[in-house]
Amino acid sequence: MKIKAAVFYEVGQPFQIETLDLEAPRVGEVLVKVAAAGVCHSDWHLMTGATKHATPVVPGHEGAGVVEAVGAGVTRVKPGDHVSLNWAPNCGSCFYCLNDRPSLCSAYIGPLWAGTMMDGTTRLSKEGQPIYHFSALACFADYTVVPQECCVPLSKEVPLTIAALIGCAVTTGVGAVLNTTPVRPGSSVAVFGAGGVGLNIIMGAKLAGASRIIAVDRSEAKGDLALEFGATDFVMAGPAVTESIRKLTEGRGADYVFEAIGLPAVQEQSLEAVRPGGTLTLVGVAPMGSGTNLPGAILTRQEKTVTGSYYGTANTARDFPLYADLYLKGKLDLERLISKTYSLDQINEAYADMLSGEIARGVIIF
Ligand SMILES: NC(=O)c1ccc[n+]([C@@H]2O[C@H](COP(=O)([O-])OP(=O)(O)OC[C@H]3O[C@@H](n4cnc5c(N)ncnc54)[C@H](O)[C@@H]3O)[C@@H](O)[C@H]2O)c1
Ligand SMILES: [Zn+2]
Ligand SMILES: [Zn+2]
Repeated sequence: MKIKAAVFYEVGQPFQIETLDLEAPRVGEVLVKVAAAGVCHSDWHLMTGATKHATPVVPGHEGAGVVEAVGAGVTRVKPGDHVSLNWAPNCGSCFYCLNDRPSLCSAYIGPLWAGTMMDGTTRLSKEGQPIYHFSALACFADYTVVPQECCVPLSKEVPLTIAALIGCAVTTGVGAVLNTTPVRPGSSVAVFGAGGVGLNIIMGAKLAGASRIIAVDRSEAKGDLALEFGATDFVMAGPAVTESIRKLTEGRGADYVFEAIGLPAVQEQSLEAVRPGGTLTLVGVAPMGSGTNLPGAILTRQEKTVTGSYYGTANTARDFPLYADLYLKGKLDLERLISKTYSLDQINEAYADMLSGEIARGVIIF
């Protein structure tokens, strides 16, 4: 079938809106009519070269839609189901799945990073040439074929725009607080970067009962947004951040610090904002090959912990319905997260808005 998709060709070039060919789903695969796709910064990392990927590729990894057709052997979903898409499908039987770390599943990592389906081929093409799938989802398109492991059915009560956000920003942000680094009630939390992911960390921290939630961003507009989502304080990014966070935490530094930007210099600054015995959780995706200065002398003497958080340490089949339920019960204000919606043709504008730091999350509606 013919589909309309946003294609990324080369670093520094904008998305091209093109008509592509999409093959029918093969064994274990699902055709999804995409309803909504969130504008996440991780797709933008392709555009800058911070994340390297085979091209041409259709990005989009924060999506939801309706199952249109299924290939042979599909048991997880049926036509008509509403699904939120999981960008890190897990097999259930590898070492990581068996040890409660399904977001680190090793079974599909090869084809996922090769930009193909699990059999090593693409369903997308243009004039006979393969077009790659980002994270097996490629949901900046009106239709997509995905492995059934990527499909998590959700109640039809949940709007598909919200289901899309659950597919990345919510699971990554709230999961970092509930799963990766469980925050204790009454504690202090600092969040560097109040974008789509950072605001979800703030909501997660509020849900967990943190008593002080300090948002740090370089955008004044994000300060107002952060306070609306539950932050108790906003600190403008800059050299005085550590000092300001210490002042707000009885001179110690925060119990938990989350970095949700992905910049090595900010990762280092974030560690300074952690109190002795506290934990820094790195959520932002730093450029491939980048590194930081690991201050071993301080880590030892001050017993600081540094950890990464990938997809909020999610078990998506368990967590997507949980976040949907928290939304339906009014405990996660996910409507407010959608600042602006766009058509697929406006995708370059949507990314410009994300980079301006003015909006919480943009969503492409099909
Ligand atoms: N770990 C994961 O599994 C995972 C999943 C999704 C996204 N991410 C990553 O999380 C990061 C955030 O994603 P997002 O979609 O929220 O992005 P976003 O663009 O919506 O938000 C980034 C925020 O950081 C702020 N910012 C940028 N530079 C800054 C600086 N130097 N100091 C202070 N604030 C600064 C911006 O103003 C913006 O508010 C990205 O690196 C993304 O790739 C990680
Ligand atoms: Zn994302
Ligand atoms: Zn696995």
